[in-house]
Amino acid sequence: MKIWILGGDGFCGWPTALYLSDKGHDVTIIDNLIRRQTDVLLGVESLTPIKTITERLKIWKKVSGKKINYLNFNLAEEYQLLLDTLIKEKPDVIVHFAEQRSAPYSMKSASTKRYTVNNNISVTHNLLVALVESKLDSHIVHLGTMGVYGYGWSGKTAIPEGYLKVVLDNDQEKTKRDILYPANPGSVYHMTKTMDQLMFAFYAKNDGLRITDLHQGIVWGTQTQQTILDDGLVNRFDYDGDYGTVLNRFLMQAAIEYPLTVHGTGGQTRAFINIQDTVRCIELAILNPPTKYDRPVVFNQVTETFKVIDLAKLVSKLTGVKINLLENPRNEARENELIVENKKFMSLGLNPITLNDGLMTEIEKIAKKYSYRVDKNKILATSLWKSK
Ligand SMILES: NC(=O)c1ccc[n+]([C@@H]2O[C@H](COP(=O)([O-])OP(=O)(O)OC[C@H]3O[C@@H](n4cnc5c(N)ncnc54)[C@H](O)[C@@H]3O)[C@@H](O)[C@H]2O)c1
Repeated sequence: MKIWILGGDGFCGWPTALYLSDKGHDVTIIDNLIRRQTDVLLGVESLTPIKTITERLKIWKKVSGKKINYLNFNLAEEYQLLLDTLIKEKPDVIVHFAEQRSAPYSMKSASTKRYTVNNNISVTHNLLVALVESKLDSHIVHLGTMGVYGYGWSGKTAIPEGYLKVVLDNDQEKTKRDILYPANPGSVYHMTKTMDQLMFAFYAKNDGLRITDLHQGIVWGTQTQQTILDDGLVNRFDYDGDYGTVLNRFLMQAAIEYPLTVHGTGGQTRAFINIQDTVRCIELAILNPPTKYDRPVVFNQVTETFKVIDLAKLVSKLTGVKINLLENPRNEARENELIVENKKFMSLGLNPITLNDGLMTEIEKIAKKYSYRVDKNKILATSLWKSK
């Protein structure tokens, strides 16, 4: 298949592009490299030394014999170029990762809130409009987040995959409806993902666009079977207070014996998935598209849930590094439960990598190997949800 990877230079996009190219698909990455520029602005770098996109692609060609095409443009701002390229290239599938994805960054300032909304909403909407205009039937596979459901208000019933069965309360006939699960974002970033969902629902209903929305948990791990083939293909690993995801931060902190930074009580339960399962899920989603005028198909792309404090205890037990309880900069429940359905990917054959399988490898092969690159001044989270 001809597959576009929007945001294919990023943490999830790069290993996905390699995986799909390895499987024989004709892959094109579109990325304006804004993520690399944000690192420069924040004064941080990926823990792993990542090559430029041009070098990465050259190395992939050498190692695999396969070519990945690359286009650099801003999907939020260069609509005409997007439309013209779509009409010329006619991709079968478009995997959409190209959004500002850090909740702390989105809450940093008025400027980062506005950037996150303008960028994320415009990329998604431009893509939808361009598909309608071009009259193409490309399948969109979008990376959403578990955070659209909100944390701490779902009760003891498992969160279903996207839709909730309700009976309208004021209705004498007690009409049954299947509605999008009520959105409850916890940051401006998460808010943009809930807005993406509404745009998908509209364009699927109005124009018959075929859309799969993957509500992904927090991704951990770094390497995949393809990124490991050469040091120059290594995936990025963010550990800083804005872009570092919680478990990868613990792994890096353990590697340099820095007390593990737990916010509040650590009683927040979150959903997780290994990066190798992310790429496999995307393949499964591509192979199981909706048909025209179906409502968007939603998968919960998660494999395990943990309380943050339990993760910290696990890493602490494995490495002997202590835990440091810090004030929570976020506006969130002190504790929450999280029960999530993930039957769809499991029934399609996903065989997940669990934390117990992969943690030590990550610490030894990535966090310790590159620990000389850590800037300790960038570890603490500084973005506040509310001004003091
Ligand atoms: N990393 C996670 O733990 C996680 C969890 C749940 C969901 N997701 C979702 O998966 C997607 C990818 O996440 P990631 O961790 O790979 O993020 P990332 O920041 O590493 O990658 C996103 C890529 O998109 C590009 N991009 C952003 N805006 C663009 C634009 N306007 N035009 C062209 N390119 C643009 C960036 O340069 C970057 O390379 C995001 O949508 C994110 O919300 C990620």
